[in-house]
Amino acid sequence: MKIKNVVVIGSGTMGSGIAAHLCNANIPVTLLDLKTEISEKARDRIHKSRPPLLIDKSKINNIKVGNINDNFDVVKNADWVVEAVVERIDIKHQIYEKIFKARKDGAIVSSNTSSIPIKVLSEHLTDEEKKDFCITHFFNPVRYMGLLEIVKNENNDLKKINQLKEFCEIELGKGAIVCNDTPGFLGNRVGVYAMQIAMTEAFRMKLSVEEADAIFGRPMGIPKTGVFGLYDLIGIDLMADVLKSFIKELPESDEFHKVAKEIPLVKKLIDTGYTGRKGKGGFYRINKTGAIKVMEAINLESGEYSVSKKIDIKSDKVDLKGLINRKDKYGEYAWSVISKIIKYASSLVPGITKEFNDIDEAMRLGFNWAKGPFEMLEEIGVKNFFDKVDNFKGNIFLENLDKSKNEDFYGERQKYTNIETLGKIKKTASSLDGNESAKIYRFSDYNIVEFTTKANALDYNSMDALKKATDKPLIIINESMQFSAGVNLTYTMNFADKKDFQSIEKFIKYFQDTCKHLKYSKYPVISAPSGLTLGGGFEVMVHSNFVASHTNIVVGLVETIVGLIPAGGGCKEMLARWLDTEEAKKDPNFAPLKVFDIIGYGKTATSPVEAEPMKYLRPSDKKIMNRNSLLEVSKKIINENKNFKAPEESRFNLPGKAVREEMNKILEKLYNDKIILDHGVEVAKELAYVLSGGETTIDKTLSEDDLFKLEIDAFMRLIETQKTQDRIKHTLSTGKPLIN
Ligand code: NAI
Repeated sequence: MKIKNVVVIGSGTMGSGIAAHLCNANIPVTLLDLKTEISEKARDRIHKSRPPLLIDKSKINNIKVGNINDNFDVVKNADWVVEAVVERIDIKHQIYEKIFKARKDGAIVSSNTSSIPIKVLSEHLTDEEKKDFCITHFFNPVRYMGLLEIVKNENNDLKKINQLKEFCEIELGKGAIVCNDTPGFLGNRVGVYAMQIAMTEAFRMKLSVEEADAIFGRPMGIPKTGVFGLYDLIGIDLMADVLKSFIKELPESDEFHKVAKEIPLVKKLIDTGYTGRKGKGGFYRINKTGAIKVMEAINLESGEYSVSKKIDIKSDKVDLKGLINRKDKYGEYAWSVISKIIKYASSLVPGITKEFNDIDEAMRLGFNWAKGPFEMLEEIGVKNFFDKVDNFKGNIFLENLDKSKNEDFYGERQKYTNIETLGKIKKTASSLDGNESAKIYRFSDYNIVEFTTKANALDYNSMDALKKATDKPLIIINESMQFSAGVNLTYTMNFADKKDFQSIEKFIKYFQDTCKHLKYSKYPVISAPSGLTLGGGFEVMVHSNFVASHTNIVVGLVETIVGLIPAGGGCKEMLARWLDTEEAKKDPNFAPLKVFDIIGYGKTATSPVEAEPMKYLRPSDKKIMNRNSLLEVSKKIINENKNFKAPEESRFNLPGKAVREEMNKILEKLYNDKIILDHGVEVAKELAYVLSGGETTIDKTLSEDDLFKLEIDAFMRLIETQKTQDRIKHTLSTGKPLIN
């Protein structure tokens, strides 16, 4: 059975997210709710969503809307009906009765429930109906969260479940894990437990909200929202409901009960409307006095708010061993939380799942953890763990591991999919080298470079790894959230603070050399980006010979925002692409002006569909829904290009001063309209100088090296200015741009 037409019932957060994502996969979808106005509003919300739920906003009207009374007939044509109404069993039962009366023979019906067991959902269904009924538990936001948990019932037609799994994997790009019918399935069972342990331990050990979030975050390979930040994001009231449902469903012997007890401060927050970001605030709140906004955090003991403090734990790396061995309260907290998560997750094996790897993957795909609990255990080391851990009686997994002391217990990864993923093949590399910023995995006929820094920010070492790995076809790919957020600004500012501009120049020069080398080396270079692909990250991608891009990318040249211009060949490559157009052949100013507009504003695209018109991506670049498939597609490109020849060098005929005059006019207007200020003009003038080709005229031909030279000179002039340094410092400390 092919899924060609889907109906989603319930157009709230999840229903609209699921409909949007089906639209992303070009599947005709109808969204129904109690009233058409509700589903129409949902469609508006999809259109305005940020980050956007749609890959291509112009397709919004491919989502049809309607209501369950007048438009229920659409169910007759659906191959799959997804129920995403409120979490109330009576309402869900009513809907199923209606769906099963109307659906066509054999159509799949699924629920998006996060907590109701399938045996309860399906209690009124006939055995025949149960064959086609399952749970498909998507995570919010649907486009961006990789996890989909599929829960079967005992009567299911397994062939159909497998077809659904395959559809969700290939067409929707999800990591589809088939789970047993147990409370919270895998992701929420471990993820919510982890949040609760992180929270209750912070209360017990008297850590502040900011301290707990600083540990239960980046240093543990967990998103930087931490625990209290995540609580605020999800909604403190919603979390209370989630906990109630766990308490109801889980036996009293389950450790979950210990961490799900009502906390007086949390109850008070909910009662007084402090339900998180959607309410008056939560563990954090923004205090507005006039135009000034101040971030405040709550004191867990007194319940009073005060200005939120930045906690510096003096480490920027995910280093679990280092973290748990610290001789301070942070180390103690980290060990307590991590060891309890490992104990809890392993207590679910084999009862809840036989595959501990599935738990890790659920945490990675559903909660964006860099490593799941068992990978954390692997990293800490079996011996180290057992040397430190207290009682784990009755935990079959840990008892067995304690006996075997097998450091190499982990085995295969990403077992839930048949796709050959990066995670699976890493361990099979014939050799591994690299440095602090990037790893090189060597295979017989190709190499892989994986960046490993925070947000994969690039430095000298990252470039060094790339350069060393071009002795074979090279795939640049990684498993973390971002391909690369750009050049490491902290690294650059450290030199600037010491007035060591020579080292910056040396680095940028090496960056340029490496990019050129990627483009012209003997073997093909393939970039497989996902997530942020900005600035220097984009420059690495744009110099690769081929691109296999995930559909969830944020791509662009954003250097001007921090008072710089792209100097790793970004200006050069964008010019080359725009010069290669029909319009540019007719009008010499066309390409420089286009690129001036794109880079000047630091424009970004949030999908390949948005990236192509700006020429950040080319039509020939591959666009892939399932992130897991990036490696297979990249390998296929290598196979198809056995006779690869490096491209010819680009040549540039640019108008020089003639186009700069036009650019200056644009700047003047922006300045007069106060859209840009003094330094904005300064930066844009440097950009104009580069993009116009400097002191040239249209009849002169410039080489790539000429363009590189223009870029680096402009970059160096800017980095030496106080105002650019102010911009960088501001962005590093606040994450926001400084307009000066
Ligand atoms: P929501 O409250 O945002 O939306 C529910 C929608 O269902 C509303 O638009 C409501 O008008 C509609 N509705 C209510 N009764 C209806 C009926 N009889 N017929 C048609 N529509 C009806 O809820 P949300 O958050 O989207 O949750 C939906 C389901 O997804 C729930 O089962 C929830 O447990 C589950 N879920 C929620 C997640 C989340 O992060 N919000 C994550 C994963 C699962």
